[in-house]
Amino acid sequence: MNIILLGPPGAGKGTQAKKISENCSLPHISTGDILRENISNNTPLGVKAKSYMSRGELVPDELLITIIKERLSRSDCSGGFMLDGYPRTIPQVDALQMILTESGRKMDVVLNIDVDDEELIKRLSGRRMCACGTSYHVDFNPPEKEGFCDSCKGKLYQREDDRAEAIRNRLIVYKKQTQPLINYYTKKALLRRIDGSKDISAIFEGIKKVLENYD
Ligand code: AP5
Repeated sequence: MNIILLGPPGAGKGTQAKKISENCSLPHISTGDILRENISNNTPLGVKAKSYMSRGELVPDELLITIIKERLSRSDCSGGFMLDGYPRTIPQVDALQMILTESGRKMDVVLNIDVDDEELIKRLSGRRMCACGTSYHVDFNPPEKEGFCDSCKGKLYQREDDRAEAIRNRLIVYKKQTQPLINYYTKKALLRRIDGSKDISAIFEGIKKVLENYD
């Protein structure tokens, strides 16, 4: 099964992707995570991406297309994959289509997680991350010990783009550049709407029901 998780910043794509990946044994491909790893390792890609990301802007399409082409060519994607945070622009949609066609694959479903702006701002401003990749929320999904990861006991931090000004910009960028993809995938009859306002497990139950139709 080949899945795209679509939705605004903070909708809960990463949170749900982790659960879907475990439940369906699919590789979770998060372009945000790939870019952040490159920034941590100070690679040439990370150096290019850093300033765009800290301002809440999109990283140029050509860099993302190169990343996704390489990632989807790996053997763990041959039985299916789940994209989180890609595509985000129409050129990225077109490139994905070309990559899949060339390798005899197709998308099965696009899950669009819907959440209103007020809730998104609360989710993003309260998010805390661990270097091991686990994400928390100070109110909605707190760790057992404040400020520390339950899994690896690492110290939690706030993402640079989860500060107020970058959040505002990310929401503007999402509406301008990524929201048009909802129309695109609706026309292709691939889009399924997920009510993202519920709690984390209720949303996951909803997603599982939708995915049962694609086994
Ligand atoms: P990326 O890392 O993909 O960020 P994003 O899409 O903005 O999404 P987020 O990770 O902020 O949110 P999410 O929807 O995953 O929510 P989460 O589950 O964490 O991208 C970062 C940047 O990289 C971009 O801005 C761009 O610069 C660049 N980039 C990446 N991909 C790119 C591309 N394709 N093209 C160009 N540039 C690209 O949840 C958020 C919080 O809410 C957490 O604290 C969580 O615990 C909490 N939460 C989750 N679900 C619920 C719930 N149901 N109720 C209450 N709280 C909840």
